[in-house]
Amino acid sequence: MKQIFVTGGAGFIGSAFIRLVLDETSDTQIINYDALTYAGNLENLEGVDSKRHTFIKGDICDKDSVLNSIPDNCDAIFNFAAESHVDRSIESANEFVNTNVLGTQILLDAAREKNVRRFVQISTDEVMGSLPESDEAFFTEDSPLEPNSPYAASKAAAEHFVRAARETFGLETIITRCGNNYGSRQFPEKLIPLMVSNAMNDEPLPVYGDGKNVRDWVYVDDHCRGIWLSFEKGKSGEAYNIGARNELQNIEVVKSILDILGKPHSLIKYVKDRLGHDRRYAIDSTKVEKELDWKPKVSWEEGLQATINWYQENVDWVDHIRNGEYKEYYKKHYGMEVGAK
Ligand SMILES: NC(=O)c1ccc[n+]([C@@H]2O[C@H](COP(=O)([O-])OP(=O)(O)OC[C@H]3O[C@@H](n4cnc5c(N)ncnc54)[C@H](O)[C@@H]3O)[C@@H](O)[C@H]2O)c1
Repeated sequence: MKQIFVTGGAGFIGSAFIRLVLDETSDTQIINYDALTYAGNLENLEGVDSKRHTFIKGDICDKDSVLNSIPDNCDAIFNFAAESHVDRSIESANEFVNTNVLGTQILLDAAREKNVRRFVQISTDEVMGSLPESDEAFFTEDSPLEPNSPYAASKAAAEHFVRAARETFGLETIITRCGNNYGSRQFPEKLIPLMVSNAMNDEPLPVYGDGKNVRDWVYVDDHCRGIWLSFEKGKSGEAYNIGARNELQNIEVVKSILDILGKPHSLIKYVKDRLGHDRRYAIDSTKVEKELDWKPKVSWEEGLQATINWYQENVDWVDHIRNGEYKEYYKKHYGMEVGAK
């Protein structure tokens, strides 16, 4: 049996990764370590095989708890745990430094102490900053780290500590950097679930600025497959950019959602732009395609339809969130109530 330690496994991508690994391997035992912040949700793990999955509630900044929770003979740490929302990092960056930087460093130290074979850091294309609007420029693994938001800065800092652990102590490390993910169980503060849940309730859809910011969308299961391949086939010390060559303007995404749901475009409400809003992200994924034999399996059309279907079939999941802490966040951030028509 392989033993792996997954942090942040109750969040959107971490829980998808756990389901994928349990479905696609038969010899992997998973410890899922998650602090259950506002973004962590045990409902995301309903139905997973409990014989091969153990949940531990804990903070990656708590060194003793981390050391006690990493199993002996651990094959890998997959670090998904993070504060992950750019808007929240603009309001206050403290928790981002704490979890994303200090927490990663604590995990790296623990990995050495427990002789963990490989450390996989789940990073983001946002560490590379913003690209011009012309479609000729792409992020590659050689692009400089030029983060613009406090969130991206904390993820870039974490990458530097991962590099330092490898260069200084010889820890085996892999970094993955993916574009924007979409799929089921994503917290509704993020673009796609925000727009889907508001549209389902005939509420205004708040779109930043002119709506023409471009993101490179990847279906969450394709991202998770890329992470697993990078662990199994990747070379220590390498970074792997994961992108589906699926650049879309935010406004195109929002209009597609309204069209699929049969709702009018008049629900779109342009709001004041996000501070320092990166204009365009786009990934050249040649390296993962060639070296890891990775390519996305799910097209944008299929993935978006499946995502919307999931939100329509899981109204209770969304309602639990919309009735919790999210209510206050939404009012403070958008100046309107969740549920306002
Ligand atoms: N969402 C995206 O589009 C995207 C794209 C590329 C990379 N990433 C990266 O993937 C990872 C997962 O993103 P996500 O969208 O699933 O985030 P998420 O916010 O849905 O989940 C984060 C999880 O981490 C847990 N967590 C937060 N702080 C913790 C702490 N101190 N100790 C232990 N657990 C803690 C939360 O409880 C939650 O379950 C992040 O590292 C993020 O930077 C995300």
